[in-house]
Amino acid sequence: MIEGSGINLSVNLGRIKLKNPVVTCSGTFSSGLEYSEFYDVSILGAVTTKSFSFVSRAGNPPPRIWETTCGMLNSIGLQNEGIDFFIKNHLPKIKSLGAKIILSIFGDDPGEFKKIAREVKKVESSLLAVELNLSCPNVKEGGIAFSSMPAEVEKITEAVCKILEIPLIVKLSPNSDSIIESAIRAKCGGAEAVSIINSIVGTAIDIDTFKPRLGNVTGGMSGPAIKPIALAKVYFLAKADILPIIGMGGIYDWRDAVEFLVAGASAVGVGTANFVDYEAGKKIIEGIRNYLSKKGINDINKIIGKAIC
Ligand SMILES: Cc1cc2nc3c(=O)[nH]c(=O)nc-3n(C[C@H](O)[C@H](O)[C@H](O)COP(=O)(O)O)c2cc1C
Repeated sequence: MIEGSGINLSVNLGRIKLKNPVVTCSGTFSSGLEYSEFYDVSILGAVTTKSFSFVSRAGNPPPRIWETTCGMLNSIGLQNEGIDFFIKNHLPKIKSLGAKIILSIFGDDPGEFKKIAREVKKVESSLLAVELNLSCPNVKEGGIAFSSMPAEVEKITEAVCKILEIPLIVKLSPNSDSIIESAIRAKCGGAEAVSIINSIVGTAIDIDTFKPRLGNVTGGMSGPAIKPIALAKVYFLAKADILPIIGMGGIYDWRDAVEFLVAGASAVGVGTANFVDYEAGKKIIEGIRNYLSKKGINDINKIIGKAIC
């Protein structure tokens, strides 16, 4: 319940309880510390950290960012300082801000996911949930993304579930046709919810130099241009009624967020919008509350999945 408004914004995704449905997307909000200079990040449903691996990664060669019509391409390549660095340096600071934390992790193979989970186990009481970024390549299986291989989705989810007691969210890639099957396997493995969508593979080319704009040739497309694609994936996954969904992909304002909620997402992720307006998450929470108030709806749960027919 938002104090004084009489409107309930809290949502439950299985065991994951959020005071409002707005979370940040992994990789677009760092660990929340920088943004805390602009607003109180504890007002968010949760802060999802960037993805951490077992040891640090340098990421892809530059250039890594290219702005496109209605969005951006990034080829950061999952650069990060490693899970121990996060635990020792970021976690205490973000905890002291009072934010609920969803920790995103990724690995090259199922063994690396298990190694990270064992480290996370030591601090799991400080976290709301762990998000498995399964859009990353499975190095042992020729570099195909884990989320394109439903059996791998179940294997990794189950393995991490055996180590951790806190809820698991599985983040799936839109770059495959197996989202529904992967979500089913995530559920079988013990996941509490799924996040969709990660960025979509794209590229841009400089027609003067004939060279790709990104050092890695391709990158992930994000921002408003991908919203209709993300929304359709959320709609059909919600209709299949497998697991609660955190919907994301091109959400720039409260109207976009409401669209995802009525399409069946129980919560929404704000990503690229944070680069355009550092207060995007805060404004989206306020906008959803005003929308419900104007409509005379006293509980956000009443609109979730309303568009599904
Ligand atoms: C610069 C950048 C870095 C990202 N890094 C990650 C990451 O580390 N892990 C992850 O699961 N997704 C990552 N993503 C994908 C976002 O979390 C999100 O799924 C995607 O961008 C779609 O949402 P949006 O259009 O609102 O940005 C990244 C996206 C961007 C733009």
